[in-house]
Amino acid sequence: MAIITVDGLSIETEPGRNLLSVCLENDIYIPHLCFMEWLDPPHASCRLCYVEVEGKAGPVPSCTVSVASGMAVKTDTVEVRSLQRTALKFFLSAHKVECKVCPANRQCPLQEMAKFLKVPLKSKDLNPRLKEKDLEALQPCFEYYPNRCVLCGKCLHTCERVKGQSLLTFAGRGIDMTVSFYGGLPNEEISCEECAECAAVCPVKAILLVTG
Ligand code: SF4
Ligand code: SF4
Ligand code: FES
Repeated sequence: MAIITVDGLSIETEPGRNLLSVCLENDIYIPHLCFMEWLDPPHASCRLCYVEVEGKAGPVPSCTVSVASGMAVKTDTVEVRSLQRTALKFFLSAHKVECKVCPANRQCPLQEMAKFLKVPLKSKDLNPRLKEKDLEALQPCFEYYPNRCVLCGKCLHTCERVKGQSLLTFAGRGIDMTVSFYGGLPNEEISCEECAECAAVCPVKAILLVTG
């Protein structure tokens, strides 16, 4: 058993467990987008889940930290909040905020983080980096919204977990990066339409299953 302190609160847990996961389980909210409990090593791309760990030089992404006994963690420091706000603004500048017509509305991690970090979802201060197309057909059965996608990788990793090899990939570079399918429809027993786990796991509903 390991005992750690997070913001002065003593927590008992298993050594080696993922710090972000332990914090969330104990109702200590840390902004995050790309974390998946089962994914080892973590994708660790969103750079939102920063915390300070005593003895470490600067803030570290909590999803990359394994718990060790005696660890002292702070989640709410000036530097941590500054990094999180910068990361969130970066995501929002490449995001078309249309909450009223968005299927993620009210279950959306961007909304939750914006509220928590007191960052406006829409702001003139953000330098917009939107892509040309708002909608693409990803497969006959999926619609993909590039300007909603936060490139968290959850769809890719989930597809890999389900199929053994991801049928999805990131295509393009920098601000042009999108999610794309490898080639045509996979010749598999379970079709994408029957599976649709990529759409189910997307935190911002950037992949939608087209029904009917
Ligand atoms: S993903 Fe979230 S922030 Fe973006 S439009 Fe949908 S509800 Fe709004
Ligand atoms: S489509 Fe959704 S799950 Fe996939 S990378 Fe974009 S936001 Fe993440
Ligand atoms: S949740 Fe840790 S880097 Fe994304």
